[in-house]
Amino acid sequence: MASSMAVLPILLCFLLICPYAAVSAVRYPAPGGAAACSRLFSFGDSFTDTGNYVTSLSPNVTVLTLPFGKTFFGQPSGRFGDGRLIVDFITEALKLPAFSPPYLLGKTAGDFRHGTNFAVAGATALNQSFFKDLGLDLSIIPPYSLNVQLEWFEHVLQLLGPTEQERKDIMSSSLFLMGEVGANDYNHLLFQKRPFDAEIRPLVPKVIQQIENAIKVLIGLGAKTIVVPGNVAMGCIPRFLAMFQSNSSHGDYDAAGCLKWLNDFAENDHNRELKRMLHRIHHPKITIIYADYYGAMLEIIRNPLKHGFTKDGALSACCGDGGPYNSGSPFSCNATSTLCPDPAKFVSWDGIHLTEAAYSFVARSVLDGPYAEPSILSKCIS
Ligand SMILES: *[C@@H]1O[C@H](CO)[C@@H](O)[C@H](O)[C@H]1NC(C)=O
Ligand SMILES: *[C@@H]1O[C@H](CO)[C@@H](O)[C@H](O)[C@H]1NC(C)=O
Ligand SMILES: *[C@@H]1O[C@H](CO)[C@@H](O)[C@H](O)[C@H]1NC(C)=O
Ligand SMILES: *[C@@H]1O[C@H](CO)[C@@H](O)[C@H](O)[C@H]1NC(C)=O
Repeated sequence: MASSMAVLPILLCFLLICPYAAVSAVRYPAPGGAAACSRLFSFGDSFTDTGNYVTSLSPNVTVLTLPFGKTFFGQPSGRFGDGRLIVDFITEALKLPAFSPPYLLGKTAGDFRHGTNFAVAGATALNQSFFKDLGLDLSIIPPYSLNVQLEWFEHVLQLLGPTEQERKDIMSSSLFLMGEVGANDYNHLLFQKRPFDAEIRPLVPKVIQQIENAIKVLIGLGAKTIVVPGNVAMGCIPRFLAMFQSNSSHGDYDAAGCLKWLNDFAENDHNRELKRMLHRIHHPKITIIYADYYGAMLEIIRNPLKHGFTKDGALSACCGDGGPYNSGSPFSCNATSTLCPDPAKFVSWDGIHLTEAAYSFVARSVLDGPYAEPSILSKCIS
């Protein structure tokens, strides 16, 4: 496994130093006998983005300053967190090299031979024009929705497999991580104070439809193993807790201090519809694994001490502005923020994204179970 020191050179290598090695003889596993998880392709948003956002959009964002990257990489890596993300723990567990290189830093087939990551921070399942038509401020909604990420994937697949048979072999021996995606479709509207019942809740079927379309495209191309994560426990996210503090009363919170209506939305609207859809497209020759990020995150929030977190660290951001839940304003984590002494004891990093410690817990619980059934590794290690 690469050490923390090894990762920056890889990024720099992609960015400027090393010329791309010409790849003449990339070998792919033989059809039939291929392992199911020889490479990983992932899609989604900032929970999964390992550098696409900062490569393509404003290089001026705070994620390119410390304390982002403080815990693992030792410096900012383009990830919206203090270290590794769930996708990084998955690539590590699959013993794939390089921490999930972002698509926008690659060029040739060789750069993509172990898979690549198409996730972009802020990205939505529905395309950007949908939100434009709703009259939303597009400044933090990137034009890289799921459809666009799928187009990128099709480009990569062509590069990797010039012939149809090669492409089929690649598809059947790859693992696909479809998300988490869709959370931002709701988040952007919540952040822009749109009415919940009139505009946000009715989006669920549209969002699920986009995810279904994407999964069907992958299956149509020959995918055999797809992991589809659900939304996290939105009602336990510090930024939302702070945002809705003034309009909430005692009865709006559960015993752990999370907003019931928002968790209910994440689990009983979005995740339930998502699981129904996955049952609908179930096929005996294809493994679709639902990854229960919601359940895994709630487990830590309800029992922080049991899992190495502190009680304070359950609902307060590690890095923030000192306001309620240390997340009194959006994007409040930067070089001058109030930082917790030990991010490993906090669930939320910056009020929206999780810490490496929390991502690690969620990743283990879907790699080994019990928050994925079957567990990812049971399908990847034969
Ligand atoms: C980049 O960041 C600097 C320092 O925060 C700021 O002064 C400048 O206006 C920013 N530039 C853009 C294009 O946002
Ligand atoms: C965006 O999504 C809408 C609704 O699904 C669809 O009608 C439209 O064609 C899409 N546009 C692009 C550019 O994909
Ligand atoms: C607080 O605001 C949200 C979003 O507008 C709404 O859905 C929720 O019901 C409100 N809570 C209360 C207690 O009014
Ligand atoms: C850093 O975040 C604080 C809030 O935590 C904010 O007041 C300040 O303007 C931010 N600074 C920059 C350079 O973004």
